[in-house]
Amino acid sequence: MAESGWCCKCCFKFIITAGFSALFLWLSLRTRKPKCSIEFFYIPALNQSLNSSSNSSLIFDLRLKNQNKEKSVYYDTIYLNLTLLDETRRLVGNLTVPGFHQGRDKKALRKESFEARGVDWKAVSRNGSTVIRLDLATAVRYKILLWKTKRENLRLGTEVKVNEQGVKDNPHGITLNSGAAVPVGSLSNFWAAFLVGSVLHRPLTADVRWYIN
Ligand SMILES: *[C@@H]1O[C@H](CO)[C@@H](O)[C@H](O)[C@H]1NC(C)=O
Ligand SMILES: *[C@@H]1O[C@H](CO)[C@@H](O)[C@H](O)[C@H]1NC(C)=O
Ligand SMILES: *[C@@H]1O[C@H](CO)[C@@H](O)[C@H](O)[C@H]1NC(C)=O
Ligand SMILES: *[C@@H]1O[C@H](CO)[C@@H](O)[C@H](O)[C@H]1NC(C)=O
Ligand SMILES: *[C@@H]1O[C@H](CO)[C@@H](O)[C@H](O)[C@H]1NC(C)=O
Ligand SMILES: *[C@@H]1O[C@H](CO)[C@@H](O)[C@H](O)[C@H]1NC(C)=O
Repeated sequence: MAESGWCCKCCFKFIITAGFSALFLWLSLRTRKPKCSIEFFYIPALNQSLNSSSNSSLIFDLRLKNQNKEKSVYYDTIYLNLTLLDETRRLVGNLTVPGFHQGRDKKALRKESFEARGVDWKAVSRNGSTVIRLDLATAVRYKILLWKTKRENLRLGTEVKVNEQGVKDNPHGITLNSGAAVPVGSLSNFWAAFLVGSVLHRPLTADVRWYIN
C-alpha cells in the first residue's frame, strides 16, 4: 500500500514537472513572424505636378520588424514582385533584397527603386486610379538561445493605391499580409517530440535540438 502511494506521488510529480517543462519550452520556442510594411511609395511618372511621365522609376521603402523580444531573425534573400493591377495584370518589376540578420525587437528600412520599363504611365493614369500589387517571398529562421530554427516560409503581399501625386493613397504604413493559410503542424511536431522524449525518458534537450534542426 505504502509503496503504491509513493509511486502515485512520484507519478504525479513527474506529470506536473513535465507539464511545466512543456509550458516553459512552448513559451520560449514560440515565434512571431516579422511584420513587413510599405512606408513610402512613389511613381514620379504619375505625379501630375511634374507634367512628365518620362521618369520610369518606381521608388519605395520596405520596413521589416522583428516582433520577437528574445529571438533574432535570419532573413534569406527577399524576393519582391510588383504587378500593375490593370486588365492584364502586368509584372512591372521584380527585385531582390539581400538576406540579413536582425537583432531582437529591431526594425530595418530598405529603400528600393527600379526602372519600370515598358509601361506607358501616361495611359495608365488616364485610366483613373492606379493600383500596384506587391508580393514578397522569403524564408526566415529564428535564433533561440544557441539554436537556429528550421526555415519558415514567409509569403506576404498587399495592394498599393497610388494617387495623383504619384504616392500611395494611404498616409500610414501599409502592412503586408498573408493571403495563404498558416502552415499547420510546426507546434504539433514539437508536442510529438516532447511526448516521445517523455516516454523514452531521454533528455529533453536532445529532442528539442532534433525539433529545431
Ligand atoms: C511631385 O512633383 C512636384 C513638382 O515637381 C514636387 O514638388 C513634389 O514633391 C512631387 N511629389 C513627390 C511625392 O515627390
Ligand atoms: C506644367 O504645365 C503647366 C501648363 O502647361 C505649366 O504652367 C507648368 O509650369 C508646368 N509645370 C512644370 C513643373 O513644368
Ligand atoms: C526620377 O525621379 C526620382 C525621384 O524624384 C529621382 O530621384 C530620379 O533621379 C529621377 N530619374 C530620372 C531618370 O530623372
Ligand atoms: C525577374 O523577371 C525576369 C523576367 O521575367 C526574370 O528573367 C528574372 O529571373 C526575374 N528575377 C527574379 C529575381 O525573380
Ligand atoms: C485602359 O482602360 C481600357 C478600357 O478599360 C483598356 O482597354 C486599356 O488596356 C487600359 N489601359 C491601360 C494602360 O491600363
Ligand atoms: C514573382 O513572379 C514569378 C513569376 O511569375 C513567380 O515565380 C514568383 O514566385 C513570384 N514571386 C513572388 C515573391 O511573388
